Amino acid sequence: MITIALTKGRILDEAIKLFEKAGFDVAEIKDNAKNRKLIFELGTSFRVILAKSADVVTFTARGACDCGIVGKDTLLEMNANVTELADLNFGKCRFAVAAKAGETVFGNKNKTLCVGTKYPHVARTYFNESGIDCEIVKIEGSVELAPLLGVADCIVDIVESGSTLRANGLEVLREIAFISARLIANPASLKIKTADIKALSDILL
Ligand code: PRP
Repeated sequence: MITIALTKGRILDEAIKLFEKAGFDVAEIKDNAKNRKLIFELGTSFRVILAKSADVVTFTARGACDCGIVGKDTLLEMNANVTELADLNFGKCRFAVAAKAGETVFGNKNKTLCVGTKYPHVARTYFNESGIDCEIVKIEGSVELAPLLGVADCIVDIVESGSTLRANGLEVLREIAFISARLIANPASLKIKTADIKALSDILL
């Protein structure tokens, strides 16, 4: 039996489709918004857990789940001890630096750049590597509000279609990294359950 954690939210539908294509009955998982269940049996081989992205990584890193499907954004932010097995090629978006359209954000030597983000580690790493001194302000919800309210000069966030930025008068200044959904595994599970995890990845890829 392999336990796999799937990330709730944007990438869940695509992840469920992979199991559906492989012939599993996924009706109950698809109905999770109504039935509120979090753990599902798929035949006798797989147990599916629905969790928030960071918890998918935590559960997989701690061996509570053998595998997980999660965005590269969360993997970059958490830098946890999990093995990335494959790029699943959906949930494609990018990490970008964005600010109010037309505003000059970089190059003010008299002021430390203030960056709003849900991804402090990614933002800190990017600006450190770019040699730009910055203060990070952790935002939990709509990061786009930070520059609009004057809480930050710019944001580091996920951009998919770009419509949230456009709707709020923001624009991309720099691209940081491309993101997509990844299949991950617990390193010990990978050694002990090699054949079963291979069977899972054959289903998903
Ligand atoms: C993400 C991100 C942006 C938006 C970008 O938030 O934080 O707000 O998507 O997508 P777009 O470029 O297609 O407009 P999400 O909708 O995932 O919600 P969240 O704030 O709950 O993370």
